[in-house]
Amino acid sequence: MALLIKGGEIVTAESRFHADILVEGETISAVGTGLEQPPECQVVDATGKLVFPGFIDPHVHVHLPFMATFAKDTHATASRAALIGGTTTFIEMVCPSRNEDALAGYHTWKQKAEGNSACDYAFHMGVTRFDASTESQLREIVADGTASFKIFLAYKSFFGVDDAEMFQTLSLASKLGVITTAHCENAELVSRLQQGLLAQGKTSPEWHEPSRPESVEAEGTGRFATFLQQTGAAGYVVHLSCAPALRAAVDAKLRGVRLFVESVLPHFLLDKSYAERGGLEAMKYIMSPPLRDRRNAPVLWDALQAALIDTVGTDHCPFDTEQKLLGDGDFTRIPNGIPGIEDRVTLMWTYGVKRGLLDIHRFVDALSTRPARIFGLAPRKGVIAVGADADLVVYDPHYRGTLSARSQHVNNDYNGFEGFSVEGRPSVVTVRGSIQVRDGAFVGDKNRGRMLRRDPQYFREAAHAR
Ligand code: URP
Ligand code: ZN
Ligand code: ZN
Repeated sequence: MALLIKGGEIVTAESRFHADILVEGETISAVGTGLEQPPECQVVDATGKLVFPGFIDPHVHVHLPFMATFAKDTHATASRAALIGGTTTFIEMVCPSRNEDALAGYHTWKQKAEGNSACDYAFHMGVTRFDASTESQLREIVADGTASFKIFLAYKSFFGVDDAEMFQTLSLASKLGVITTAHCENAELVSRLQQGLLAQGKTSPEWHEPSRPESVEAEGTGRFATFLQQTGAAGYVVHLSCAPALRAAVDAKLRGVRLFVESVLPHFLLDKSYAERGGLEAMKYIMSPPLRDRRNAPVLWDALQAALIDTVGTDHCPFDTEQKLLGDGDFTRIPNGIPGIEDRVTLMWTYGVKRGLLDIHRFVDALSTRPARIFGLAPRKGVIAVGADADLVVYDPHYRGTLSARSQHVNNDYNGFEGFSVEGRPSVVTVRGSIQVRDGAFVGDKNRGRMLRRDPQYFREAAHAR
């Protein structure tokens, strides 16, 4: 059946205008005023509402064995929470440990997702060691449509790669036209600082941030950029948290390094005082890079508006309070991560667009269009245009609410943004033409999501066209 979205104000990365959208099958077939309603057509009245392209979260963890436990969501819970919050596609990090076989890990992650996701999804392939079998395995994975890599410069001995492995990964990525995303913190310094603090009896959560200071992240960011420059690869810094790391990234951009920058929801809205509340309350706010001094957030907002920060993800990574308590008495054992997949769009709208920190078109660009372009999902995703997938968010700007773990759909017993008020929420969300969400409730097909296969060559062309 066709779908007609009538009378809304369409907002894209470039423009805003009142028009109807006609969807036939899975794609948009017309955009215009006064579109005729075909027979057998579902109609959504979007009068007084905004219509955005489906939002894309470029940094998500669902299946994640990490720090002696597993993140709490399944693809069923994460995808429904994503959709309720207006995210119609997410990109999940495949993170096998250094002891696991990369290809086997890739298949594990794929199997976990297949048939279990309500929204569309893709993967970044984590490269957590580089040995004799890695190149052929990565070529196979890229040929399967997973055209982006992930490396960790942090998490020594678990996910972390050394400089030789980073060089090998980036050299291969450059040959294949694949972009590499990177967690940029110096593993050796983090490890030495952690041991030093523990030896002084500084074991509680507030010591997490001093164990991974801003300079350690800036070093990782600068080193990653230097390796990109020398290998000719394209790169993407994930979850950048602070001004010194931003300066390192911007310096690289100015040198012509093909480097994109992501920051994530917690770094815009929270600061290290949350991790200084003591006990379990503080443990909820442990992530890496850590929540920073509050002077950083205004710098990040300005950089986002100026598009020096390209995208906003979540680094969605839910560990519940019982899991967080694994680090009681030793901050290095607190499972790292804060959930956010459900609340990214409404929070960035409320605290960015509505507060005048973020232009509405940059909002769409950073949360949808640019992730689609950088990761080869465009032109299917991230736009409202004839021929594009009909992933649409009809947004009700008049809704008012308050975030709480009690009403969330993420599988976790706390919400890092508990008590934050929000202005507006998605009132209708479609995935390839099918209505999946109405006014905060999942009403659709829980198995609708598909893996999105991406062409590595696409990135090369997009990068050169920038
Ligand atoms: O603290 C975080 N960010 N947890 C998830 C793993 C990662 O580093 O992305
Ligand atoms: Zn990370
Ligand atoms: Zn992450």
